[in-house]
Parts: sequence; structure tokens; C-alpha cells
Amino acid sequence: MKNREQVLFSAYIKDFLLANSSRNLFEYVDGYFNFASKKCNFNEIIKKYNKPTYIYDLSFVASRVGLMKKALGNAKIFYAMKANSNRQVLETILNCGCGVDVVSDGEIHRALEVGFTAKQIVFSGVGKTKREIEFAIRAGIYQINVESLPELLRISSIANSLGVKVDVALRLNPNIDIKTHPYIATGLHENKFGMEMSQLRDIRSILISNSQNVNLVGLSLHLGSQMLEFSGFRDALKILKNIFIELRAEFPGLERFDIGGGLGIIYDKANLEIESEMLNEYSKIVMQELQGLEIEIQTEPGRWLVAHAGVLLSQVQYVKKTRYKTFLVLDTGMNHLIRPALYQAFHEIIPVLEKPTEVRVKYDIVGPICESADFFAKDRLLPEMFQDDFVVILDAGAYGFSMANSYNLQDMADEICI
Ligand code: LLP
Repeated sequence: MKNREQVLFSAYIKDFLLANSSRNLFEYVDGYFNFASKKCNFNEIIKKYNKPTYIYDLSFVASRVGLMKKALGNAKIFYAMKANSNRQVLETILNCGCGVDVVSDGEIHRALEVGFTAKQIVFSGVGKTKREIEFAIRAGIYQINVESLPELLRISSIANSLGVKVDVALRLNPNIDIKTHPYIATGLHENKFGMEMSQLRDIRSILISNSQNVNLVGLSLHLGSQMLEFSGFRDALKILKNIFIELRAEFPGLERFDIGGGLGIIYDKANLEIESEMLNEYSKIVMQELQGLEIEIQTEPGRWLVAHAGVLLSQVQYVKKTRYKTFLVLDTGMNHLIRPALYQAFHEIIPVLEKPTEVRVKYDIVGPICESADFFAKDRLLPEMFQDDFVVILDAGAYGFSMANSYNLQDMADEICI
């Protein structure tokens, strides 16, 4: 049969269980998809279904924060809220005792509304406007991570006009490749992020001549996102450590080291045990490289804390068969979850209703948007699906809703927290 792959029922179930027992992330309960915490009732959720919905398991977020805190010891966690700025997700992270890393005045407003104090906020980002800097300074935020010489001058001039002195950290660009997707690599010279080492002499003199208004408190780096291998990260820490020691002789207020975010997760055949081992390896490198400095270590994780905690629930609109393909046309697309279109990212997709079937079918799983990039998967094997069936797209808790848009004037997705 064209587009169809007949497999034995037992083989399918075996594959499925094998892939998912190692995830420990979800299971079928009474025939319906559920998070591992079993806190969600998808049976009820789909009865009230109106449109594509992100569903977040807050207990999972809290458990991830706990794991990271344990692994990184005394490091201060500033959650990169660009990954997911849902209010309840932020409250959960606040209640776990973390701060936030923000990149716009919109994010500062959101963080303050949710209850973070100004002293729990680090302000990063390559294009901070005058308005944003002034707002951040007036709010009294903890630290501004500076990305360029003109930004440093702008901060100093705004601080001067407000009659205050601002704590700044320098984001340095060590030209290191962490072997991630080029769109999310940030530590190379060709990237717009951070300041080149060769500018250190100029940076120093600006800091000295503006010492009434800017106070150097830290160094920072962020090499990119979805980092799964850490040799480049180790090299970068070594480089920055040396600069840190050198600069501290001149700037005694230098006492914070921001190691950035970027710790990756496994999207394809996710395995929480392997991720825990990776976390341990990552933190071991941090401890080894930064030991003996007597500093405040800061970290800005985003994805690692929230990605696995969220799914995107969607309904099949059409099963469209052509001579070449079978398309599963969903009511969600690149407007709600742009990662596959933008980074060719893999997301597992599974039926909400458990389908014991002898048949698996190869589908191109696509959205409603008028772009051929609007697909979630090509040639993906699923049990046979029908119109009005529900699916969940897994690991959508990071950079899902936060990167969504209303292209084609589609509605934004709903969000539910459990
Ligand atoms: N700190 C800074 C300065 C950042 O720019 C980022 C992410 C983070 C921390 C957090 O990185 P994470 O721990 O989440 O890797 N939209 C892409 C990811 C872009 C990351 C942007 N910056 C994706 O969906 O894969």
C-alpha cells in the first residue's frame, strides 16, 4: 500500500515503549496522553478544546530548577525568560528562589509584575534602547550585561543624567564554536553578540573615565543555545578566567562571573538520565575552571528548565492524500511553534488518544500557514490518524509560545498550566 508501512502491532508498541520509557516524561493513562506527573487530564482538556493550546507542567519546571540548583551549588540562577514568559511559569521559577535574565523593557515589566524584585533581574541583549536602559536603571535592576562600547557609553551617559552609578558586566565574545545550529550560535566573531577581546584596552579606559557612573562588577559570556558538548565552553571559561584575574587587579568591584545559558536538551529520543549526566558534566567544568576565584557565579538557563515541561495540543483538520504524500493538516503551524521552520528542529509528535494499531502511516505533518516551510515533520511514522483526532507536539515549553506570532492573522494559542 502506498504511503503506508505495515508493521506488527507488537513491534510498534515495543518501539514506542522503548523510546518513551527512557524519557520518563509522559505516559498514557486510561488511554489518554499524560505528563509523567499524571497531573493533567487530557480527556477533559480535549472536551473543552477551542484552539491550539500550550500546556505546561509546573511541577516539572520546579523539579528541573531543583536539579540545576543541586548541580551548580552556589551559583545564582537567572532564568532566561525569553524561553517562556508565561506568568505562572515565571511564578514557579520565582518561588524556587531564582532571578531572571531579561532582554527588553517588556520582559522587565513582566518580571516585576510577577513579583521578581529589581535586584533579581539581570538585563542582557544586544540592542538596548535609551528608553529601556533608563527604565532599567530607574527600576534599580541588579546588573546590566553590556554588549558593545557604544552601549557602555550610553549607559554611562544615562546614569550620569540620573545621578547614579550602575553595576555593569561585560559580555565578551571569545570566538568559540559550540557546534550548534548557526542561527543560535552567539560566541563567534561573525556573531553580533559580546565584545571582542581586542577591545579590552578601550573598554578599560572607558570604564576608568566613566567610573562616576559605571561600576564593573562582572564578566559574562553566552556562547549560544542547545549546547550538547562542552569542550568549547571549557575553553571559553579558561579564557575569561584569565581576563577576570587581570581586570580584578584594576577593578576591585569585579566579583561576578556570568556563565550564560545554553545547556541543551535531547529532543529526539529524550532521555532524562543522559540529560542529568550532561548537567553534571557541565557543572563539573564550571566548578573546575572557576575554582579559587571567590566570586558569585551566575547562570542564565532557559531551555533546560522549561522545554520538556510543555506540549502543544492541536487537532487534525484534514488527512489529505495525494499520489505522493499523505499530509496531516493541523490547526497549528509555524505561527505557534516556529522552531521546525526556523532551525529544522525535531519535535516528537504523538496522538493524544492511545492508538493500538497494526498500522503505521508516513505523514507530512503540516500547519495551515501559507508557506511551504510550515511543517513540523516530513515522512513521520504515526499510527493511522483521522480528522478531528488530537496530537501533542512534545518539548514545546521553550521558545514555543514566546516566539509565536499572528501571521495570516491566526489567533495566538491558548496556554494552560497544571
Ligand atoms: N542568556 C542569553 C544572553 C541568551 O541570549 C540566551 C538565549 C540564554 C541566556 C538562554 O539560552 P538557553 O539556556 O535557553 O539555551 N529560539 C532558539 C533559542 C534562542 C536562544 C536565544 N538566547 C530555539 O528555539 O532553539
